[in-house]
Amino acid sequence: MKEGPHPAGVRHGRCRASGTIANLAVAAALLAGCGESPQSVLDPHGPDAELVHNITRVLFIGGTVIFLLTMACVGTVVFTRWKLREVLGSRRSILVMGIVFPALALAALLVWTLDIARALVLPRSAEPMRIEMIGWQFWWEVRYPDLGSGGALVAANEIHIPVGREVELVAISKDVIHSVWIPALRGKIDMIPGRTNRIRFMANRPGVVRGQCAEYCGAQHALMAFYVVAHPPEEFDRWLEQERRPAPAPSTDFLALGQRAFGTAGCGACHAIRGTEWTGGYGPDLTHVGSRLSLAAGALDNHRGTLGGWIAGAQDIKPGNRMPSFNSVLTGEELRAVAAWLESLK
Ligand code: CUA
Repeated sequence: MKEGPHPAGVRHGRCRASGTIANLAVAAALLAGCGESPQSVLDPHGPDAELVHNITRVLFIGGTVIFLLTMACVGTVVFTRWKLREVLGSRRSILVMGIVFPALALAALLVWTLDIARALVLPRSAEPMRIEMIGWQFWWEVRYPDLGSGGALVAANEIHIPVGREVELVAISKDVIHSVWIPALRGKIDMIPGRTNRIRFMANRPGVVRGQCAEYCGAQHALMAFYVVAHPPEEFDRWLEQERRPAPAPSTDFLALGQRAFGTAGCGACHAIRGTEWTGGYGPDLTHVGSRLSLAAGALDNHRGTLGGWIAGAQDIKPGNRMPSFNSVLTGEELRAVAAWLESLK
């Protein structure tokens, strides 16, 4: 809609009403759009989010109905000469609708939501799949303590879960306070240094949903996201088998150059890659970085181009993050080779 600097309703007085209706239509369309986003409380992918979604529905729909009824009563009293006007305007009506009804409605809501809160904290299964999620400025370390062969299986910025199995997410922080929020699966849980918080959730259908840090944690808080991939159980087993493997050896000279340049640039001081000599623990584990959906904690799509761009200009893309820009360390050829090699780590 090209309207110049002023919205229609402001420019032409007589269009004000239609402008309001248009705005409401836009708001409704935006809300409807929320339902299809991978990061939406309005599109639950599991029973826990479904419970919260029920509260949302009842509050929004109930609130709207009560608001419309109240406005109808006010309109009747102010603008009509109907008999009903006398009834609605009486002291008894005001007592019933202004005090008794709100007290009963709020008491009923309190009992109902407390019951839902109870359902949310009760475990669904005795043996949930444990995932440790560790917040760092500004990315997520993901550890599956029971799934590695001899120790935890370590990954980053992406969680994989089987559909239909409850997950216990153990939330830890290594620096400042963060908060994990996966709107389509569950409410938020804070990551507080020195504390261990736990939250449980379950996906009841396959799909990819997005999570986001929900507590301001520094300059790049907004670019601290991650994906949750819910697999059907057999597909999850295949993913697990692949994820447990060490990084594949470079299959061409160009990829081997990339691996060497990664080492000489010192990347292994911060990053670990299973199957190589590098075991750094300050940045994301890169063993299977090529198979991830995003780079830099949801900030970029993941392919050779963005890998190269991120390595050369990490400080331009997420200023203040812990990874330096390597544009003056690697030659163009080396940068392309490192990006290609990392892309090959599926
Ligand atoms: Cu981490 Cu905000």
